[in-house]
Formats: sequence, structure tokens, C-alpha cells
Amino acid sequence: MLTGRHVVLGVTGSIAAYKAVGLLRRLTERGAQVTVVMTAAAKRFVTPLTFQALSRRPVYDDLFDPRDEILHLSLAQAADLFLIAPATANTLARLAAGSANDLLSSLALSARCPVLLAPAMDAVMWEHPLVQRNLDALRGIGVGIIPPESGPLASGLVGPGRLAAEDVILAAVEARLESSGPWVGAHVVVTAGPTREAIDAVRTITNRSSGKMGYALADAARVRGAMVTLITGPTDLPVPVGVDVVAVETAEEMRRAVLDRIDKTTILLMAAAVADYRPKVSSPGKLKKSGSAIAIELVPTPDILGEVAALRTETFVVGFAAETDRLVERAIEKLHRKQLDLIVANDVSRPGIGFGADDNEVTMIDRTGAVMPLPRLPKRVLADRILDHIHAIRLQERPSPPPST
Ligand SMILES: Cc1cc2nc3c(=O)[nH]c(=O)nc-3n(C[C@H](O)[C@H](O)[C@H](O)COP(=O)(O)O)c2cc1C
Repeated sequence: MLTGRHVVLGVTGSIAAYKAVGLLRRLTERGAQVTVVMTAAAKRFVTPLTFQALSRRPVYDDLFDPRDEILHLSLAQAADLFLIAPATANTLARLAAGSANDLLSSLALSARCPVLLAPAMDAVMWEHPLVQRNLDALRGIGVGIIPPESGPLASGLVGPGRLAAEDVILAAVEARLESSGPWVGAHVVVTAGPTREAIDAVRTITNRSSGKMGYALADAARVRGAMVTLITGPTDLPVPVGVDVVAVETAEEMRRAVLDRIDKTTILLMAAAVADYRPKVSSPGKLKKSGSAIAIELVPTPDILGEVAALRTETFVVGFAAETDRLVERAIEKLHRKQLDLIVANDVSRPGIGFGADDNEVTMIDRTGAVMPLPRLPKRVLADRILDHIHAIRLQERPSPPPST
């Protein structure tokens, strides 16, 4: 999943330029926003219209584009990754020399995001010492090279030079994006699911939370390269890959698991539906049925968010509020009372969204009082929207660099 990631796809004048069309499709299917930049030679092979229609974004080919005079800087700044596929021998030479004689090469010089090149050319060109020297120079400055495959070439020769397979290029893109970006190195702790409080040896008090929202957040943070710990109450969901899972049952166990990790937590996402009350006494055996009414005395469970707030750590804390009425008003009150950085509120009284459902419709409210309602969305998509918003808030809060002397 590349949701929320912005890839600039550079296409150069190789016979394999048509393969960039398939690549664009696969990248957008995975959720990436792709902006295509073409060289003049590339336009001799495939029309910009094809890329424009598939990416639903303008295609750029002109350094002196009247729509944006500093396109080579603004595009580079917005990109999470710059992929050139196919990359011709000519483009490799220009990039290795630091040339900036068109939009694509100027962009390569301006880019501070990872740059990946997938060369494609005839075997005789690929094996030429100057091409290999240029590749070495580019590797030497950290540019990723996705080597071409061996096989039949347009010239009739058989040898190395065919553009790497789509799957190989996509895997390289995903691997690069996972190891770069603002979430890399962040420790994200997500709580998910319900908690279960024992009445006796077999009966419990719990709630209808499925854990889907928390699991979606954990997955979205993992894809962005964060180190993720998922503290989960009992759910039926499959154990997510690449995430450290801590299974808990009660509110007290969840509290311990969160507080044990809080010192190392960059972002805490409290998506679990933690029980507010637990039976004061839990019978070690099974309570016998008596036929008459019984009363179970309930006492409050620990206030995990309250305790986290009292610690005044640097952790960015996101709370979730499930309400059935006065959604925004109650969420704002909770945001301030628990000193949260962001609250995600949803109306659980409406059918088809919220508890147990695959979709949710939430309103995000941050400390500045900004209220951002989102449409009904699948929880995995929503997870990305929430992480995007957290990133935007953290960027604004980042101290500005000292003035240059
Ligand atoms: C039919 C045809 C196919 C070509 N295929 C390739 C190729 O696969 N790889 C390559 O490096 N150059 C290839 N070239 C040469 C490039 O198009 C040429 O070097 C051009 O200047 C590249 O410009 P660019 O790197 O700015 O796109 C081909 C040229 C023609 C006419």
C-alpha cells in the first residue's frame, strides 16, 4: 500500500517507455499519487495524454512551464520518491554529470527524496564502460539502481538491458518508501479492540468494538516505516504482519502496557474501547444461578489517557471518542480534559459505521480548535487520512530553523 505517498515518475526516450504506462497503473492502484515527468524523447514513444488520463494529473515536460515557474523545485519538494523508469543511457549520463538541461534532470538535482532508476537499453549500450561508470557514480551518491533483466531485446540481441519487471520495480519502490519519510524511526503505539472485565470465571463485561480501526491505524503506520506496537484487547482479527503485538484483556493490563512504553512512544493512538467500569469483585469460580435478581457493583477502571497526560511526556497523543449525541461538543470537552493533541470522534448511534463496521465517518478536532469532518470511508483509508493529519500538525509544531547568518 502506497496510500498518501507522492511518487514522481520520470519517463525517458527508451523503446520500453510504453511499460511506464503499466507501472503508473500499478502505482496508482496501490494508492500512490503519481506525477509523470517526460523527456522530449519520451514523448516520441508515448503521448503525455496517456499518462495524464491514467494519473488524472497534469504531465510535465517543460522546465519553463507557465503553470509553475519553479516546477523543478516544487515537484521535487512534494515528492516522497523520484522513480525514473525507463532510464536511458543518455539520462544516466546527464544525471551522473549533474546536468540540468531539462525538467527531468533539474528535478533529479533538486530532489532530496530517494531517487530510483530503472535503466533500459540495448545490451551493447548497457555493457559499455561509460554507462557502467555513470551507474557507479550514481550509486555512489545514493541513487538506487534497479538492474535490467536479461532477455530478448528490440535489436534482436539477447542479453542484459530489458527494463526490470513491474513487480521488481514496485517492490523496490515500496522498500525505498518504507525506509524513508517522516514516520521512519517513529515509535507508534496503537491500542485497539475492546477490553474484557471478569464478573466470574466464565462471564465478562465487554463492548462491541471489533478492533478494526486500531488494526488499520497500526498497518498504515507500519507501511509508512514506523516501528509499531499494537496493544490489543480480544478481537477476531488476524495478527498483522510487521507489527509488535501485545495482547491484553483488561483495562488494567492495557494501562500497564501503555505506561510501560510511554517513554519511547512518539505517537500514541488510543483507538481501543476501554471499559469505563469493572465489577468490584470478580468471583474466582462460576457464580451459581439462583433464580433471583443479583446486583453487580461496578467501580471505575483506570483513566489511561488521564495518566498519560499527567506524565507530560513529549508523546503526541491521539484520543478517540465514540458518542451517540452532541459529538463535537463532547469531543472538544474530552480533548481539553485529557490534554490530547488530537481527538477523532465518531457517532456510534448510526448504522453501518463505527463499532464493528468496515467503514467509519469521523470528525477530527485538534488543540487549536480546528474541526475537520471527514466523509464516510473504509477504516483503512481513514487510517491514512488520520496519519496525514497528524503529520501535518506535527510539521506545523516543529520549531522553525534559526535564521541564517
Ligand atoms: C526506436 C528507438 C529506441 C530507443 N531505445 C532506447 C533505449 O531503450 N534505451 C536508451 O538508452 N536509448 C534508447 N534510444 C535512444 C534515446 O531515445 C536517445 O538517446 C534520446 O536522446 C534519449 O533522451 P532522454 O534520455 O532525454 O529521454 C532509442 C532511440 C530510438 C530511435
